[in-house]
Amino acid sequence: MDKRAIGVFDSGLGGLTAVKELRRIAPQENIVYFGDTARVPYGSRGPETILKYAWQDACFLMEQNIKYLIAACGTVSSHVDETFRAHLDVPFCDVIGPASLAAAKGTKTGRIGLIATAASIRSGAYDRALAAIDPSLQVLPKACPLFVPLVEQGLFQKDCEITRLTVEMYLAPLKQQKIDTLILGCTHYPLLAPLIDEFFEGQVLLIDSGRQAVDTAVGDIAALGLSGDGKGESTYFVSDDMDSFVRNAGLFLGAPVDGTVHEIDIEQFEGVKVWKKRS
Ligand code: DGL
Repeated sequence: MDKRAIGVFDSGLGGLTAVKELRRIAPQENIVYFGDTARVPYGSRGPETILKYAWQDACFLMEQNIKYLIAACGTVSSHVDETFRAHLDVPFCDVIGPASLAAAKGTKTGRIGLIATAASIRSGAYDRALAAIDPSLQVLPKACPLFVPLVEQGLFQKDCEITRLTVEMYLAPLKQQKIDTLILGCTHYPLLAPLIDEFFEGQVLLIDSGRQAVDTAVGDIAALGLSGDGKGESTYFVSDDMDSFVRNAGLFLGAPVDGTVHEIDIEQFEGVKVWKKRS
């Protein structure tokens, strides 16, 4: 039994949807979460910046004595490369592989929609992952840059007209293209799942990428003999205002924040020096 925590990170609050799932399926595991709330969003930035931030976030969490690292961020996941993985001290999982596998398994027609941040779509990471599973799969991508700010503002209730119209605007082309499966490629998007499901009249299988990553991570942890029997404690680190994190995080966790919250200056972090040496 390994009481060390599982490290989970995201550009902001979206990764908390993965923490919610982790709490549900592995309540005995301790969790350390880092949300880069000072630098969110990552999805409108360039590849080098995203990789540099990801490396800093990972280095910070590795210093917290974690046993496993989850990138609960679609944007980070679609940019990490083999060099990034090779430099990590702990086993690692991102959202791309697990979500692609679930989509490939779930689709009947082979027409898979993908919604994510602009950077994730541009990276082509899902296209590559799905093609590696089955080259006959068709990926129909749509960047949805307004979804993250709407979710962060708490505007995701079913009766929220502005969000309903935004869902319609972004997803109408995918409906026309007759997808039968849709990857929610950004960890903020599960909060929009009820509105998205309503738009597709329950006819499209929705794949929650954070949830798939957590399922994979918990399987890996068991296979590696690293499962915990702890108290299921959570520690949260953010890079900006803690009070606003505590106010909003409950929406993503589906419950009030259940652990200690700390604010750190991620820019001070050793990661950048290591990153420069690495490149
Ligand atoms: N949660 C991030 C993701 O999964 C989206 C937010 C951002 O743009 O940083 O891609």
